[in-house]
Amino acid sequence: MPSFADARALAELTLADHLPDRWLHTQAVAREAIRLAAVPDVDREPLITAAVLHDVGYSPVVARTGFHPLDGARFLRTRGYDRRVTALVAHHSGAVVEARLRGLDALDQYDDEATPTRDALWYCDAVRGPTGLPTIPDERWAEIRRRYGPEHVVSRFLDEAEPQLRAAVDRTRARMAAAGIDPVTTTP
Ligand SMILES: [Fe+2]
Repeated sequence: MPSFADARALAELTLADHLPDRWLHTQAVAREAIRLAAVPDVDREPLITAAVLHDVGYSPVVARTGFHPLDGARFLRTRGYDRRVTALVAHHSGAVVEARLRGLDALDQYDDEATPTRDALWYCDAVRGPTGLPTIPDERWAEIRRRYGPEHVVSRFLDEAEPQLRAAVDRTRARMAAAGIDPVTTTP
């Protein structure tokens, strides 16, 4: 398995020049993941590696189908990432719901592990905005709906997936509280 430093370099290579805002978001999500790695039952390396790679599928040098969780996961398999990291990327932030709305069943070959590690990844993605600034999940989801418009598949996905996204956030917050980790940070 490539190291976290390798993963970060790959994310920078694929995102920084093409999608600078997405790269800022990615770096902020990865920093939050490093903070959350102290939560009990969260597995540090899979979490931080998946966090820094979760959106590489948006890169024009990676995209194939146009569905970024799947494109990212397939790309990472070719780069030597293991089944766990690729599955975390494939399923991040409720992607299976959007896959169904898009008529794709290709995510079925990846397991959604539904663990504290996976919840932590979803949490990190929900508390960092499109340029990496700290946000709260409700504002994050509202911003995505504004950006895409109500009829877009991404907005319809959010309408359906929001309860499970919120549940993952709430479970992660409870685990952070139990571990004495501040749920709010203003560090981008
Ligand atoms: Fe994503």
